[in-house]
Amino acid sequence: MRKKVVAGNWKMNSTIDEAKKLTSEVVGILSKEKQNDAVVVLCPPYPYLGMTRRDIGDSQISVGAQNCHEADSGAYTGEVSTTMVKGMGAEYVIIGHSERREYFNESDELLAKKVSKVLAADLIPIFCCGESLEIRESGNHLDFVKQQLTQGIFHLNATEMEKLIIAYEPIWAIGTGKTASSDQAQEMHKELRDHLATKFGDEIAEQTPILYGGSVKPANAVEIFGQPDVDGGLVGGASLNSRDFADIVKAI
Ligand code: 13P
Repeated sequence: MRKKVVAGNWKMNSTIDEAKKLTSEVVGILSKEKQNDAVVVLCPPYPYLGMTRRDIGDSQISVGAQNCHEADSGAYTGEVSTTMVKGMGAEYVIIGHSERREYFNESDELLAKKVSKVLAADLIPIFCCGESLEIRESGNHLDFVKQQLTQGIFHLNATEMEKLIIAYEPIWAIGTGKTASSDQAQEMHKELRDHLATKFGDEIAEQTPILYGGSVKPANAVEIFGQPDVDGGLVGGASLNSRDFADIVKAI
């Protein structure tokens, strides 16, 4: 059985007080209502990582960072290393979010280095991929996203690959209220799993969680998560509302 995962990507949102309130509400609701074995990850902004980890206490929720630098340490003003996020209690790191690729010019080559660095620190990468509307409309989306995997993670060995989580996030569905249909999500996820199998073999491909991201809401989560190759979600906007986020977790 593949692991099911729901991760909340808070992006650059929330004051410290809002972050504390959100965490305590999510912990409170899930401790009463969660009945599945989905892995739940909260990815707050860097400054709140340690606080969020402490506020979660001993409930079964993990913390993840939204990014990290590819070097161990050094003169990189404003950057944050894997050792730092790990020291704050993070277990996961989102790598290659489309907002990092687009606004911070993160290339496939750089992301390949980041993925390796995250794994070397014994953290779990949530490796993001996904096409723009223009690419979707050109009909090249399947090849484009497969290429992102080839460039970003095909240098890994089998032991490393066994730890990785993939998140497919079509850019045209992020923050737009428009989701991929469950058929579109399933088509891409299946294609990505088959692509993983060509490099890492069927067993690893079968056990790699592939999450869907892009306007996941309580109202659409059941249908999207019901697809055979969709193993959970990477949730942006709806993860800032404790009730919505908990309902999405429960939809697994
Ligand atoms: P939304 O859920 O707000 O569309 O964001 C998705 C996302 O980018 C998660 O990483």
